[in-house]
Amino acid sequence: AWRPGDEDGQRRGASGPVKVRVPAKVNLHLGVGPLRRDGYHELNTVYHAISIYDELTARRGDTLTLTMEGEGAGELALDDTNLALRAAHALAGYAGVAPHARLHLRKQIPLAGGLAGGSADAAAALVACDTLWGTGLSRDELAGIAADLGSDVPFLIHGGTALGTGRGEAVSPVLARPTSWHWVVAIADAGLSTPAAYRELDRLRDAGAAGTPLGSTDALLAALRQRDPRVLAATLGNDLQDAALTMRPSLAETLKAGEAAGALAGIVSGSGPTCVFLATGEADAVRIAAEITAAGVCREARVAHGPVAGARVV
Ligand code: C5P
Repeated sequence: AWRPGDEDGQRRGASGPVKVRVPAKVNLHLGVGPLRRDGYHELNTVYHAISIYDELTARRGDTLTLTMEGEGAGELALDDTNLALRAAHALAGYAGVAPHARLHLRKQIPLAGGLAGGSADAAAALVACDTLWGTGLSRDELAGIAADLGSDVPFLIHGGTALGTGRGEAVSPVLARPTSWHWVVAIADAGLSTPAAYRELDRLRDAGAAGTPLGSTDALLAALRQRDPRVLAATLGNDLQDAALTMRPSLAETLKAGEAAGALAGIVSGSGPTCVFLATGEADAVRIAAEITAAGVCREARVAHGPVAGARVV
């Protein structure tokens, strides 16, 4: 394998900076099955990549470093526990190269928001370092490394709309005629812990206090094919929503505000606390976002559309 010390004329990879854009995800359907022996829950989910992006730039360096700006700057650990750095190490180990790069993150995806921001950064680091180092892995190989980093990371390599099974790491694309869906994304003041949300769901289930599990994705997949937002609205669902609502009761007000503003449907995204609302179109989304902002039920309401591509060099 090529090593950074091999200076026989040309180095492989990119000499200039490599910039990668990676989207946030929402789960249009998040069916949570039983707790497995490995501590994860069996999932039956439909992932959807939306147009809220983090940007990661990778440059050549003599060591591996990470700096950041934007959402969560000053709060996010930039040491080897950071998922982007773990991704760079994992790729370097897999490809047999030295993990040398200077990574810089510009974050717009909130931390601990249920939008897979950390997983997005890991996916971006894999794609960026693969180009920087010239390791030339296929998307499927990158997704294989991604699965060890987190359940959502393989999806963020692929993007689009996709079915997720296993603990979420087994991803297969949902083929549909191109349609854009318009969303309002209500971002909360503070994050929620994903493991805590899963634990809370288990507790609610043990106490007989959880809602009926969602079950099959069939209705949602059929609705995606029909391309009618009113039909899609009726099929959105999230088994983790009750858990997020018990942990953060104020989310009920956020969901209510979206409904009052005329959103077709509103759900908690992933493990929360971000809430997403389906609109009939872009202008409708802009209007709903303004009303939700005015209601004072979240830190910020942004509009987004989906599906969009996964982590890509730009
Ligand atoms: O895979 P990831 O590291 O993103 O998962 C974070 C945590 O969320 C896990 O440690 C686990 O507590 C919970 N989780 C789960 N079942 C899944 C995915 C995540 O219980 N399918």
